[in-house]
Amino acid sequence: MEIKYKPEELTKLPRSVDYKNGKVYMIDQRLLPKEFKIVEFTKVEDVATAIKNMTVRGAPAIGAAAAFGLALYAETTKAKTKEEFFEGFEKAYETLKNTRPTAVNLFWALNRIKKLVEENRESSLEEIKKLIVEEAKKIANEDVEANLRMGHYGAEVLPEGNLLTHCNAGSLATVHLGTVGAVVRVMHKEGILKLLWLDETRPVLQGARLSAWEYSYDGLNVKLIADNAAAFVMQQGMVDAIIVGADRIVANGDFANKIGTYMLAVLAKEHGIPFFTVAPLSTIDMNLKSGREIPIEERSPEEVLTCGGCRIAPDVPVYNPAFDVTPHRYLTGIITDRGIVWPPFKRNLKKLFSSL
Ligand code: MRU
Repeated sequence: MEIKYKPEELTKLPRSVDYKNGKVYMIDQRLLPKEFKIVEFTKVEDVATAIKNMTVRGAPAIGAAAAFGLALYAETTKAKTKEEFFEGFEKAYETLKNTRPTAVNLFWALNRIKKLVEENRESSLEEIKKLIVEEAKKIANEDVEANLRMGHYGAEVLPEGNLLTHCNAGSLATVHLGTVGAVVRVMHKEGILKLLWLDETRPVLQGARLSAWEYSYDGLNVKLIADNAAAFVMQQGMVDAIIVGADRIVANGDFANKIGTYMLAVLAKEHGIPFFTVAPLSTIDMNLKSGREIPIEERSPEEVLTCGGCRIAPDVPVYNPAFDVTPHRYLTGIITDRGIVWPPFKRNLKKLFSSL
C-alpha cells in the first residue's frame, strides 16, 4: 500500500480534539450542524463531562480526549509530592474512565498512559509530567497516521461506486480524517466514490447532523436517508458496499458499533452487498472472546423521546441502547491500519497481534 495523500489534501476540517498549553480543545459536536464552535477545557472533570454528554464522541476521539484529560491533570495539578501526584492521577484516571463504557479506545488510551506512569515511578515529578503530556500527544498523532493508512488500504479493496455508512466515523469521530472518513475521502480523491449514502442514525442523529455536515464540507457527493430507507436503497441496487466504524472489535471479529449497525449487516447479507468495518488496532480488544461480553451503554430516554429538542412522544417507558453487536459472520473484512483482516477472523486477528 502506498500513501498518496497527506491529511491536509483530504480534509479542510481542523482536528476534532487537541491539546495546547495546558488546555484541551474540542469541536462541540452537540451544536453541529447549526454552529461550529471550538470549546476549551482546563479541568479534568469538565473533560469527563464532555465525553459523557457527547461534546466529543466517536471511539478514537474519546480515547484522545481522555489522554488529553490526563495531560491536563499533569500540567495543572498542585501536587507537591510524588505521593500526592499519584493519588491525584488515580482520581483523574477513574473520573475519565467512568464516562462511556463501550468504546475500548477510552480504556486503551488511559491504560497506555497509566502503564507509562507505573514504569517511570522512580523518575522525577517533572519528568513524569512531561512523559504524560508527550504520550497523550503521541496517541493523538498516531490516530491521524492510522486513519491515513486505513484510508489508503480501504480504497484498495472497496468497489468503485456507491457506499452506505451509518452514524459518524468521520473526522469528528477521530482526531482527524476519520476511519470510514479516511476511506471515503481517499476514494473521493481517486474519483472512485460516486455517492455516499448516509443513514440519519436516530436517536442522536450523528449521520444527519455530523456526517452530512463534514462530508459535504469536504465536497463529497452525499445523500441522506431516514434509517428505515436503507433496506429499500439496497433492494434497488443502489449500494455497492457498506462501510461502518467500530467501537470495539473482539477476538472472534464480532464488533460493537452504533445502534442500527447490526440491522444493516443482516440486510447486506440478504442483498449480497459487501460489509466492512474500519478501525485502528486501538479499537480491537483481544481480551474479550465474543461480542456477548461487550458492555453496551444505555443512554437517557430523552434522546428517544425528543428530536432536535422537540418532544415527539408521550411519556412512555423507553429502551435506548447506544450500540449493538454485529456477529462476525456478517463481516466481509476488517480494514485496519495494518492492512485488511479477512475471515477466519479469530485466526487472522490472532496472527495480526502476534506479528506486532
Ligand atoms: O455514540 P457515539 O457517537 O460515540 O458512537 C460512535 C460510533 O458508533 C462510531 O461509529 C464509532 O465510534 C466509530 S468512530 C471512528
